[in-house]
Amino acid sequence: MNQKFTALWVTENSDKTVTRQVLERSIDELPTGDVLIKVVYSSLNYKDALSATGHKGVTRKYPHTPGIDAAGTVAATTDNRFQVGESVLVTGYDLGMNTAGGFAEYIRVPANWVVKLPQGLTLQESMIYGTAGFTAALSVHKLQHAGLTPEKGEVLVTGATGGVGSVGVALLAKLGYHVVAGTGKASSHDFLKQLGATTIIPREELVEISNRPLSKGRWAGVLDTVGGDILTTALKSTKYMGYVSCCGLVASPDLNTNVYPFILRGVDLLGVDSVECPMSIRLPLWQRMASDWKIDLTQLMTDECDLATLNNQYIDKILQGQALGRVVVKL
Ligand SMILES: NC(=O)c1ccc[n+]([C@@H]2O[C@H](COP(=O)([O-])OP(=O)(O)OC[C@H]3O[C@@H](n4cnc5c(N)ncnc54)[C@H](OP(=O)(O)O)[C@@H]3O)[C@@H](O)[C@H]2O)c1
Repeated sequence: MNQKFTALWVTENSDKTVTRQVLERSIDELPTGDVLIKVVYSSLNYKDALSATGHKGVTRKYPHTPGIDAAGTVAATTDNRFQVGESVLVTGYDLGMNTAGGFAEYIRVPANWVVKLPQGLTLQESMIYGTAGFTAALSVHKLQHAGLTPEKGEVLVTGATGGVGSVGVALLAKLGYHVVAGTGKASSHDFLKQLGATTIIPREELVEISNRPLSKGRWAGVLDTVGGDILTTALKSTKYMGYVSCCGLVASPDLNTNVYPFILRGVDLLGVDSVECPMSIRLPLWQRMASDWKIDLTQLMTDECDLATLNNQYIDKILQGQALGRVVVKL
């Protein structure tokens, strides 16, 4: 199929800088795969911005089209689990990393990556969630599965205005948890309260610089999206038998901790990876996000943009930590 389509295209220059442009590609140039999807919506995640700026930890080879999320309709399939015209979504796996991603009008992927759009979600809503929302839901799932219940006490969400954080705040509040939002944005308190946070803590108060092995235990649970010293402090301030989930690294990939939270307080540190999350967890979780866990998606500060605006504005904004809520890309 030599049909042309529009895509964001990132190339690496000889001096290792990268150039981004929106251009025409042809369906023949897409990777092989079982399902060709006409993308209607994608969304912007922190990882996409890294891929779009030449970060080799995310994308090894350029030229490349980023976009770890895509929702659309099946345009062609060799796998009979799917039908042409059916609404589907893809998040994670290798999409947008080293497989041409969702910042394009078409993707072609293995059938095992494809999720049928759950009833109760539109294509646009599925991308308001996107990987960020799915990661928040997976974090909540792991915290709950470990034993966190609302009556155990306050739950801290760090990076609360970001994509993962904002869905995390809204979902935990919906499920009856007492949510404390940690944020670096003084102007976002009303937004976070509207999402359901009862208390807001400025980011600088989330880091305790002392050599004390433990701090006073406050959190029954923590949904951390930033890592670094904030996660270190959160672990020290988690109550006896509390639970801390860890999914992100915007503050730092380093974690300087000691064993005391684990051996004196029995704290559980729960790793969250939404990329390779198996379908046995992924499918029921998407179903819940479309039904009993469905948050009021209109409350998330969602900007909708086209590929050109994504390229010119939003990629830089998310890298500068200025993201507020979600950015949905309309193809
Ligand atoms: N493990 C997985 O499967 C998985 C999946 C998705 C995302 N992630 C990771 O999760 C993290 C969050 O992703 P996202 O899409 O929510 O990103 P995002 O929309 O950019 O949000 C990150 C938020 O963190 C806060 N922040 C920014 N810079 C910071 C800094 N230097 N120190 C402390 N806090 C800072 C900001 O919120 P405030 O201003 O409110 O503090 C920002 O809005 C990223 O590291 C991403 O790579 C992991």
